Amino acid sequence: MHSRIAGTGSYLPAHILTNHDLARQIDTSDAWIRARTGIHERRIAAPGEQTSDLALHAARAALGAAGLAAADVDLIVVATTTPDMVFPATACILQSKLGAKNGPAFDVQAVCSGFVYALTLADKMVASGAVRNALVVGAEIYSRILDWNDRGTCVLFGDGSGAAVLVPSADPGILSSHLHADGSYRDMLSVPGSLSEGQVIGTPFVRMDGGAVFKFAVKALADVAREALAANELSSDAIDWIVPHQANIRIIEATAKKLDVPMTRVVTTVDRHANTSAASIPLALDEAARDGRIAAGQHVMLLAVGGGFTWGSVLLRW
Ligand code: ACO
Repeated sequence: MHSRIAGTGSYLPAHILTNHDLARQIDTSDAWIRARTGIHERRIAAPGEQTSDLALHAARAALGAAGLAAADVDLIVVATTTPDMVFPATACILQSKLGAKNGPAFDVQAVCSGFVYALTLADKMVASGAVRNALVVGAEIYSRILDWNDRGTCVLFGDGSGAAVLVPSADPGILSSHLHADGSYRDMLSVPGSLSEGQVIGTPFVRMDGGAVFKFAVKALADVAREALAANELSSDAIDWIVPHQANIRIIEATAKKLDVPMTRVVTTVDRHANTSAASIPLALDEAARDGRIAAGQHVMLLAVGGGFTWGSVLLRW
């Protein structure tokens, strides 16, 4: 028994924050942000919107694409670094908003690799027969953990959500997963804050060593892609689409170059979405699936890297 993706969905909050808008608030420019990151604009969640609300829109769209109802969902995994609250898990809140019942629901915290981690767990549970249909969501509201006076970080991120429905399949949809982490790099990218006795201890905003992250990300993405190719005895020519984490167009281009894959076979949304962390891969996957770029039978490689540091790949036959 295997699992395959039967439907995808995504959601972006209505409010668009452009680079020009940011340049009116802090010492930056559209030209600097475009040249260094490829980002033109990002979405910002409305004040009353929660991560579970973003997840709900994407989940409904994915279920619709899969032709399934909420009652058919046996497992919900939400990848997020920006949960609604400390607990319960955003996955449980989503389950209730969706009107699903009974199956397990939990969050995965692997920062920008969260969706690839969550998809891997769900694949193992569906393929083993432990559950039947699984809903995997990446949803984030990074706008609430950014220091809007820190131009080195606040220009990079945005809010959004994406989802995929996994169903059992006689033929493999998910061909392989490779996950990694190395916590010795934990200080390179973090939100080093916590709650204690009603107070925020430390810093509740994203802190990052941008140059170090850049170098680490390119190496990790290329290494894990090669690991997946070797495990499946494929060359990079056999990959129809790479759907990478959308951190920065320069990271994506450098990775594609290392893998000898032209950018025409790489799905990018970073120009419009910025870095939506765990939501970035399912957002990009949904866009390319819905506009018909990804076709039945094609090989699709998801590549992720994020805080922790964590990194990983999922290779799919669509
Ligand atoms: N606008 C204008 N100037 C800026 C801005 C800004 N928003 N941010 C920094 N600068 C300035 C700096 O202060 C510096 O000025 P100085 O030379 O006077 O000191 C100058 O621009 C160059 O700064 P660098 O940090 O050297 O710029 P760099 O070319 O390295 O680009 C960036 C910075 C875009 C952050 C890059 O390092 C990067 O993309 N790193 C990867 C980070 C990333 O993608 N993080 C996402 C999370 S990680 C993940 O998802 C895996």
